[in-house]
Amino acid sequence: MAKSVLLICFLVLVFAFAAADNSPLQDFCVAEAGSSVLVNGQACKDPETVQANNFSFSGLHLPGNKSNPVGSKVTPVTVAQLPGLNTLGISMARIDIALWGINPPHTHPRASEILLVLEGTLEVGFITSNPDNRLISKILQKGDVFVFPQGLIHYQRNTGYGNAVAIAGLGSENPGVITIANVVFGSMPDISADILAKAFKVDKTVVSQLQSKF
Ligand SMILES: *[C@@H]1O[C@H](CO)[C@@H](O)[C@H](O)[C@H]1NC(C)=O
Ligand SMILES: *[C@@H]1O[C@H](CO)[C@@H](O)[C@H](O)[C@H]1NC(C)=O
Repeated sequence: MAKSVLLICFLVLVFAFAAADNSPLQDFCVAEAGSSVLVNGQACKDPETVQANNFSFSGLHLPGNKSNPVGSKVTPVTVAQLPGLNTLGISMARIDIALWGINPPHTHPRASEILLVLEGTLEVGFITSNPDNRLISKILQKGDVFVFPQGLIHYQRNTGYGNAVAIAGLGSENPGVITIANVVFGSMPDISADILAKAFKVDKTVVSQLQSKF
């Protein structure tokens, strides 16, 4: 008797853990009674009509266009480009960076990232959370792999002699990207200049100058 109660308690616990919510795959989901908007995934295609193409993406052999002020281009392959990734919790990207170009400081709110350098030399780094804010940084060569832990701000810079190419794997089908400079100085509408002046310990004119560039 006691044994079966224990077994039931154990099964209930296992079931409770197995049935825990998944991590959110969107920035937020405000509750609304009767809404038809889905959470944590897109609607499913009828499995009978699924084709091999729905699990495939072509084009990652093509370099991205790096002619932009940061000198880099990320080509994502997330659930938006490859519908078969829906609910699977993985995605990838190709990163092209011109000499001395950067993939500017950014964070993926929903994914850790593992990066493999295919060509060139990349300086990579991430910063730990408060209070240490330690920069963990390294120069990577072709064949080197580096991991950026989920949510931490990170960047890449091409410090080599030619183009750099990397492939990243991400632990979400919809990892999201928050580019720090864009969200801080380019939000719509602007964050009030006195808030940013105090936060960055600079004059409001410096803040306005930065805001005008985003
Ligand atoms: C699935 O693949 C078929 C065949 O290539 C295509 O017609 C259809 O648009 C695809 N659907 C999705 C959701 O990718
Ligand atoms: C690359 O982007 C630049 C700037 O947007 C554009 O002028 C140029 O035509 C693009 N090159 C290619 C090959 O698409």
